[in-house]
Amino acid sequence: MMETINSSEQAIVLEDKYGAHNYHPLPVVLKRGEGVFLWDVEGKRYYDFLSAYSAVNQGHCHPRILQALVEQAGTLTLTSRAFYNDVLGPFEKYITEYFGFDKVLPMNTGAEGVETALKIARKWGYEKKGVEAHEAVIIVAENNFHGRTTTVISFSNDENARKNFGPFTPGFVKIPYDDIAALESALEDKNIVAFLVEPIQGEAGVYTPAQDYLRKAADACKAKNVLFIADEIQTGIARTGSLLAVCGNCTCEGHCEKQETYTQPDMLILGKAISGGFYPVSAVLADNHIMEVIKPGQHGSTFGGNPLGAKVAIAALEVVKDEKLAQNARKLGKIFRERMQILVDKYKILNLVRGKGLLNAVVVNDSEDSSTAWDMCVALKDNGLLAKPTHGNIIRFAPPLVMTEEQLHECCDIIEKVVKAFEK
Ligand SMILES: Cc1ncc(COP(=O)(O)O)c(C=O)c1O
Repeated sequence: MMETINSSEQAIVLEDKYGAHNYHPLPVVLKRGEGVFLWDVEGKRYYDFLSAYSAVNQGHCHPRILQALVEQAGTLTLTSRAFYNDVLGPFEKYITEYFGFDKVLPMNTGAEGVETALKIARKWGYEKKGVEAHEAVIIVAENNFHGRTTTVISFSNDENARKNFGPFTPGFVKIPYDDIAALESALEDKNIVAFLVEPIQGEAGVYTPAQDYLRKAADACKAKNVLFIADEIQTGIARTGSLLAVCGNCTCEGHCEKQETYTQPDMLILGKAISGGFYPVSAVLADNHIMEVIKPGQHGSTFGGNPLGAKVAIAALEVVKDEKLAQNARKLGKIFRERMQILVDKYKILNLVRGKGLLNAVVVNDSEDSSTAWDMCVALKDNGLLAKPTHGNIIRFAPPLVMTEEQLHECCDIIEKVVKAFEK
C-alpha cells in the first residue's frame, strides 16, 4: 500500500532514500494546486512563480482541461498508432490551423520534440537539399537548453549536464547567441541543414535577443536554403506575451495575423504548456515539403498522438485563446518588470531585470557560485512565493498566466520584502 504522507519532512526523506538524486529541489513538499496557487503538505499556501518551468501557463488544475482529461480518460486513452483514433485527426487539424502549418508530428516530452525536429532536418537535408550522406550539420547557439537526451546534450555547453555521458552525437556547430554575423558565417558551410534556436534562452537565464534577431536569423537561413527551427517549448503558448515568442512585438492580440512582424519558422517545436501541465504532449509543426520526408516506420512513439493527450492539448490551447492569456502575460509582464526595476535601482543586491511577457529573471549581485539566489528563494518560500534560481545567481520569475494584476502586485510586495532583508 502507498505510504501516507503526513509531513513535508517525511516526503523529503522518502525521495532522498528511494529516488535518484538528479534534481536539487527547494525544501517544499506540494500537495495541491489551483490557478496561481500551490499548497504544501502542512496546508501553507504559495504563489507559484515557476509554473513547472512554464508548463502550467493556464494555471494549476484548470477545470476545463481537467474536464477534457476526465472525459477522455473514461472513454479511450491509448491505442498506439497501429490504429487510427477519433481524436488525433481533430487535434492535428486544430493545432495546425492554430499555428499556421500544414502538418504536425505529435510526441510526448520536449526533448523528444527536439529529437524529432533534428531527425526531420537531417532527413530533409539529404533528401531535399542534397547534402552528402552523413555530412549534415545543424547550427545551435551557445548556452542553449533543449533537453537531456544524449544527442541534445551533445551540443550543450553545460559541462555538468555532459560530464561522463559521452561519446556524443556529431554533426552540430555552436555559435554565440544573438549574433547574426556568426550565423551568416556558419551558414557558409554547404552541409548546414538547420539552425535550432530558442527565441529567448530560458534555462540560460532568460536571455532576450535583439528585437530583430529572429527575423534576421530566419532571413539568413532562407537565403542559404537552411531550415530555421524555433524551440518554443518554454517560450511558446502565450508565455512571453504573444502566442509564440517568434511573434516578436506584433500587436495582433497574441494570434499573429500581422505576418509582417511574425517570423514563421520552418519548424516549430512545442511542449510543456501545450497540455497545461496535465499530461506530457509535445509537437513538431512544419509544412508539407518538410514533413513529407518522414515515412511509416521512420519515427514515432507508443504514446505520441494518443487520444488522451490530444484531447487535453485541444482544451489547453482553447483556454489560452479564450482567456486571452497572451494579452494578460504582456500586460502583467510590463508591470512586473517596472516593479522589479524600482528594486534594481534601489537595492545593490540586485543587478538587473530582463525578460518578456511573464518570462522574466532578476540577476542577483553576487558570484555564480554564491548561495545568495538560493537563500533568497528559500526566503521567498518562507514568505509564500515559490521561485527557483537558474545558473547560480539568476532567479527566474514565471507565474501562471491566469494571474490578476492585484495578485501580481502582492507578489511584487513579497519579493521587495525579501530583497530588502538581503540588502547588506
Ligand atoms: C527550450 C526547451 N527545450 C526543451 C526542453 C526539454 O523539455 P522536456 O523537459 O519536456 O524534455 C526544455 C525544458 O525545460 C526547454 O526549456
